[in-house]
Amino acid sequence: MGWCSGTTVRCASRHDRHRILVTGGAGFIGSHYVRTLLGPHGPAGVQVIVLDKLTYVGDPANLGPVRAHPGFSFVQGDICDTAVVNLLVAEHDQIVHFAAESHVDRSIMDAAEFVRTDVGGTQVLLDAALRHHADGRGVFVHISTDEVYGSIAHGSWPETHPVSPNSPYAASKASADVIALSYHRTHSLDVRVTRCSNNYGRQHFPEKLILLLITRLLQGRTVPLYGDGLNVREWLHIDDHVQGIELVRTKGRPGEVYNIGGGTELTNKELTALLLEACGAGWESVEYVTDRKGHDRRYSVDYAKITQELGYRPRKDFATGLAETVSWYRENRDWWEPLQQRAEPGAAQR
Ligand code: NAD
Ligand code: DAU
Repeated sequence: MGWCSGTTVRCASRHDRHRILVTGGAGFIGSHYVRTLLGPHGPAGVQVIVLDKLTYVGDPANLGPVRAHPGFSFVQGDICDTAVVNLLVAEHDQIVHFAAESHVDRSIMDAAEFVRTDVGGTQVLLDAALRHHADGRGVFVHISTDEVYGSIAHGSWPETHPVSPNSPYAASKASADVIALSYHRTHSLDVRVTRCSNNYGRQHFPEKLILLLITRLLQGRTVPLYGDGLNVREWLHIDDHVQGIELVRTKGRPGEVYNIGGGTELTNKELTALLLEACGAGWESVEYVTDRKGHDRRYSVDYAKITQELGYRPRKDFATGLAETVSWYRENRDWWEPLQQRAEPGAAQR
């Protein structure tokens, strides 16, 4: 294992079957993906290297369980750093690209880092893939989001729906998404794009709705609900998202987009009611606050394509997943309490 920064990279033998570069692997979804790949049910012989800048949200502790795994290495670095990216892509045949600025509220306050990382960083990775994987040996899985489609009042988006992003975050992800697809159409690079709905689960940085609510309610604090609380999100358990990504990496087709949904649609108010009950709090703990600017009303993906083509289906029942998540936060205060300081940038709004 190598745990290093900058350009000092120790790599294992070139003869391993899969050599996967995971960007953003110290974040919520990326770390869960890496822990799953290197866990008891992961593919044999896989070698994984994580490239992560460790921004305010990246946490090396998320990779603690795999730190000593012989198939694991870590590099602290920036996906916008062409030299580091080229070095790593040259040594790896597959890329699963999670790294991004990912919080909508922060993108509304300042979009610069979103454009730099989400758009610029993706392009650096794609160029490196083009340089080293043009012989057709590589796979580039780009983790996008359902937010690229915009907002939908009724029905669900199929992958063929045009992108129409609203927030600066969604626009940066949509740009990266279509640039990634352009490298397939123009250069025949094996790019596969996933667009998933809202994830939830353990080790989620406590700035997004479910985790913000759980952590604050467990501390006996009030929770902020934006606008009328009737915006709808489709919840996807992190295990199911990882299942979908693995299906796309191993069986997906080049140049294709795959929606990954969880199937549980709730208004924020309905979700809040469930969390109040789970945390033993009442509606007096809820503060209705000024709405998010440009707040998307509803997201809903049609995930029939990945279901029919790759055999995906969400397995985690929402009530069970939510109860497990609340329990994990209840039992792991030492993980999330130190993160709270940097988790609530919109505190002034509340
Ligand atoms: P996260 O914010 O928890 O983690 C992002 C990770 O990327 C962090 O470890 C961070 O340190 C790293 N990173 C940021 N900028 C970097 C840079 N310039 N170079 C290298 N590393 C950098 O995000 P997440 O919730 O795990 O989301 C992962 C991906 O999935 C993102 O691309 C996001 O857009 C997408 N996504 C997330 C959700 C969700 O509900 N969380 C839903 C749909 C899509
Ligand atoms: O849909 C996928 C997207 O889901 C991902 O691409 C993003 O990375 C991820 O952050 C998430 O975006 P959302 O904006 O949907 O998630 P967030 O948890 O920020 O907000 C969920 C809903 O809850 C949304 O309608 C806004 C509302 N909300 C959020 C916060 C943080 C509140 O009412 N109060 C809050 O304090």
